[in-house]
Amino acid sequence: MTQHTVLFVDDETNILKALQRLLRHEPMRVLCASRAQEALELLEREPAQVVVSDQRMPEMSGVDLLQAIRERHRDVVRMMLTGYTEMNVAVEAINRGEIYRLITKPWNDDELKATLRQAFDHYDLKQEIKRLNQVTREQNFKLQDMNRNLEHKVRERTKQLAEKNQELRTAYVQTIRALAEAVDAKDAYTRGHSERVGVYASKIAREMGFPKEFIERVYIAGLLHDVGKIGVRDAVITKPDRLTPEEYEEIRRHPEIGAKILEPVTFLSDVVRCVRHHHEWFDGSDRGYPDRLRGDDIPLPSRIILVADTCEAMTSDRPYRRGLGLEKVIEELHKYSGTQFDPACVQAFLRVLEREGESFIQKDQKFDIYAFIEG
Ligand SMILES: [Fe+2]
Repeated sequence: MTQHTVLFVDDETNILKALQRLLRHEPMRVLCASRAQEALELLEREPAQVVVSDQRMPEMSGVDLLQAIRERHRDVVRMMLTGYTEMNVAVEAINRGEIYRLITKPWNDDELKATLRQAFDHYDLKQEIKRLNQVTREQNFKLQDMNRNLEHKVRERTKQLAEKNQELRTAYVQTIRALAEAVDAKDAYTRGHSERVGVYASKIAREMGFPKEFIERVYIAGLLHDVGKIGVRDAVITKPDRLTPEEYEEIRRHPEIGAKILEPVTFLSDVVRCVRHHHEWFDGSDRGYPDRLRGDDIPLPSRIILVADTCEAMTSDRPYRRGLGLEKVIEELHKYSGTQFDPACVQAFLRVLEREGESFIQKDQKFDIYAFIEG
């Protein structure tokens, strides 16, 4: 810690000498000046923490000197030593010089020493507050900076995560499509069938006003609806002639086989039921399978897929006939609405057909489910 210094200013040298004597053994440096100008010059060379000035001096009064010191050395603690006890001098000194104490002549030695100690303490305290304020300001700046960096990092990281998530979802859909294509490849006539059912079903779901997650699920379930055909003999699947009752039974097992295949796949758990029930009839008749569910008991994606599946199958070429036109599909949907099909799904689908016309059944259309959902 630097040694404390006090500067006394008085035109009477006796006073200065008395003060020096008084403070000879005190732990402080004592500087003296007998003129205001001299005091100001001295302060430039020899920093002091406390200045005690007489009021009545030639050239410049104590009040003026202390004001000048205040302007040049803001932190110096200023005190007035005066024989004048008039209130107006005290008030002026305090107002103009912002002085710390007013000491009257003649002074009490002990009081003067105590006042000086307090003035130094006052100085030290103000310096400490200043230092702490500076530290706080710097730390605040650092914190703000760190906050900005952190926000930026969080934003970056969130963006990266969202991108990764989208990459994963796309990869997931590609895998499912590959699986669906493998199923369709069992029969040359069903190439692209599952993908198109997924697309048609997504369009119906969106037309019905369902949320994105639901449309995505309908699409995935559409892609996978016939995955159980993996477990049906190729000879049965590709047989151009009428199926025997046994062969028909074998075909009818594909929804259950599909559900069994998908059951162990955790991330497909919500499409298992949709696959299992995609051949149920809305009226619960025994022409539906495997469980003869009825109405709302049939998962909604299954009801949507049945409409999409029917349309896709009718409009595609088969070994025994060319693909049928949309008017045939519309006729069929009307005919079986309320028995085989859920009327709400039929209505939604007819609205889509109305809007899109023949272009709806154009083959080899590019489709990106995520672009579709967001669009
Ligand atoms: Fe099927």
